[in-house]
Amino acid sequence: MYSKEQVVALQKRTKELIEANHTEKAFEIIEQLRDILRFHEYRYYVLNDPLISDAEYDQLYKLLEKIEHSHPELITTTSPTQRVGSSLNAAFKTVPHLVPMLSLENSYNADDLIDWDRKAREVAKKDELEYCIEPKFDGASISLIYENDHLVRGATRGNGVEGDDVTTNMKQVRSIPLHAAFSEYGVHTVEIRGEVMMSKKAFKAFNEQLAEQNLPPLANPRNAASGSLRMKDPKEVARRRLEAFLYNISYHTTTGEAVDKKKDALLHTHAGNLQMLWNVGFRSPMNEMKVVKGIQAVIDYCNEYESKRDDLPFEIDGMVIKVNDLALQDAMGMTTHHPRWAIAYKFKARQATSKLRNVEFQVGRTGSITPVAKIDPVFIGGVTVGSISLFNEDVIKEKDLMIGDTVLVERAGDVIPYIVKSLAEVRDGSETNIQFPTKCPACESELYREEGEAVWRCVNIECPAQVVERMIHFVSKDAMDIRSFGEANIRKFYELGLLKDIPGIYQLDCTRIGSLPGFGKKSIDNIQAAIEASKQQTLNRLIFALGIRYVGETTAKVLANTVDHLLDLKNYSEEQLQSLEDIGVKVAKSIHTFFSNEQNIEMLHQLESLGVQMNNTKRTAPVAGGLSGQTFLFTGTLNKLKRTQAEEMVEQQGGKLLGSVSSKLNYLVVGEDAGSKLEKAKKINTVKIISEDEFLQLIGG
Ligand code: IVH
Repeated sequence: MYSKEQVVALQKRTKELIEANHTEKAFEIIEQLRDILRFHEYRYYVLNDPLISDAEYDQLYKLLEKIEHSHPELITTTSPTQRVGSSLNAAFKTVPHLVPMLSLENSYNADDLIDWDRKAREVAKKDELEYCIEPKFDGASISLIYENDHLVRGATRGNGVEGDDVTTNMKQVRSIPLHAAFSEYGVHTVEIRGEVMMSKKAFKAFNEQLAEQNLPPLANPRNAASGSLRMKDPKEVARRRLEAFLYNISYHTTTGEAVDKKKDALLHTHAGNLQMLWNVGFRSPMNEMKVVKGIQAVIDYCNEYESKRDDLPFEIDGMVIKVNDLALQDAMGMTTHHPRWAIAYKFKARQATSKLRNVEFQVGRTGSITPVAKIDPVFIGGVTVGSISLFNEDVIKEKDLMIGDTVLVERAGDVIPYIVKSLAEVRDGSETNIQFPTKCPACESELYREEGEAVWRCVNIECPAQVVERMIHFVSKDAMDIRSFGEANIRKFYELGLLKDIPGIYQLDCTRIGSLPGFGKKSIDNIQAAIEASKQQTLNRLIFALGIRYVGETTAKVLANTVDHLLDLKNYSEEQLQSLEDIGVKVAKSIHTFFSNEQNIEMLHQLESLGVQMNNTKRTAPVAGGLSGQTFLFTGTLNKLKRTQAEEMVEQQGGKLLGSVSSKLNYLVVGEDAGSKLEKAKKINTVKIISEDEFLQLIGG
């Protein structure tokens, strides 16, 4: 929508207007000011990628209001001041919510909760209230409508009154059922609220994929989820493995049919609603919620959850406390901003401000130059943060960072810390620009930036920094896993001239190392044993350890499964490589380049002669007439086999394992106490539901 030049010009003018902050020559600047505000709204609401702080935006907005106030004749219907709420993504249809999506009042400590409880009891005219407490999911809010048991619409929060219709994208979220048997509960139309999330694990995997492509990572799972919902390609949405927690029914109509008493009871409490949602196939917070009486029990549960926050598979930023009785909720009603029957309890923030003191430039194993911000150490969420990766030059420019800036730093859970933004409004003029180097800081070679890439690289493969980084990667946990070796030792041995390249790891002069201070017999024995054991590592680890560009763990597995010996890869053309699973043009080219390089082949020969295993020892040929092409999923407890054993059997016979029930599933093997997967499978005619014995017969065991 905006060209790069326009963005630069608008951003420049933004800064000028913020600095000038005057209303003179109103005629001249008013339209420009509006354009600038529209641009920043677009960045914020549509792209989810603001270029200025909220405070800066507010300053400009107020400036416009002020000008319009003194010159009402200049007000236009399209002025940003004439719009209520936020802008919406033009790529999606705007749809009204059946009930406005309000936000919640916030509380931050036990006293806040005690105060709120007192007020709530007054309004409800009760001595004690029953509450349902559940996590406050830190994702992107959504609203779903089901009619006659079918998902008919999914929308984003938008401005709370209207949202973007993102039904197609919502359908890619596996935990959102397309069909849910609300009619069994006498419900005809229902609007449900919830949160789309990316689990910490999926987020980490996604960022690793981005890193393999040298793209900057996403800041946190919340941004990943909200960005994903607005994507134009539903297939890309599916790839992001989103999840949805549904936690509120905001509206429903009934079918008028008689419903059994037990089911009907679920319609009268919040916990009952969660149970019904769970029963019809949603991921409601059934396992996470608790119903309690009185505020002390609420405070205890909030504390308990805060202490286990880091161990949860997904991000939460607090707890939500709701009055459990729905009739009472109705009686208590709403203010214009939030319901009186609910409150959010926010956990301690994981943001802090600090000073940006310096930016260092590190050389990676592929020669990539990564700027790393050095900040005054700050304590956030249990750790002290002093260094923060800035990924590439564009990030520095986009965030408009300067040395001496006050920066806002965030660390969410086990996510790596990142700089949210600089607080440009508190600059005092002493700040200096960050100079990106033109030469490699380690070897002085010229830097090179490939077209379409954000990363500058040192092209000298002999560059000492690269050599060291390649060795560090080689021994790392997910690669050859030579524990007790580690980064510090590699750096030390390299500096002392005891280690110069990867094959050198297998030729270490342990007598000399033994004479170094701090290296006793025990540590030398440990190092030697770990090096020896690594010679038998699986082929996929060895391939990953080589640090071929774009070859992450997944691609390494694909390559390892393709060949009998590592050096067979020498004979693969780019086209042949591209025919392998998940290997595209760029990756194929990189692998081909690696195996066409004489020096690399020489290194591999050397490694082999030093005893490193290069044969594929783990590969098992699929059994003819086995389970090839068939998909399996296990549910419940198996009696005769361990789950992992059974899964291995399927894979050994060429079958594939699936993670959830869908029309792609051929067999659901059902053990004892099978739950929702079985219920789901029963609804899909093509899924064969078999017992453990039937499974054993099928595989001929
Ligand atoms: S209830 C009318 N429950 O937090 C009340 N909201 O800060 C409806 N949120 O807009 C909201 N987890 O997007 C509720 N368990 C939970 C929640 C939750 C996250 C979000 C929701 C809401 C925002 C308010």
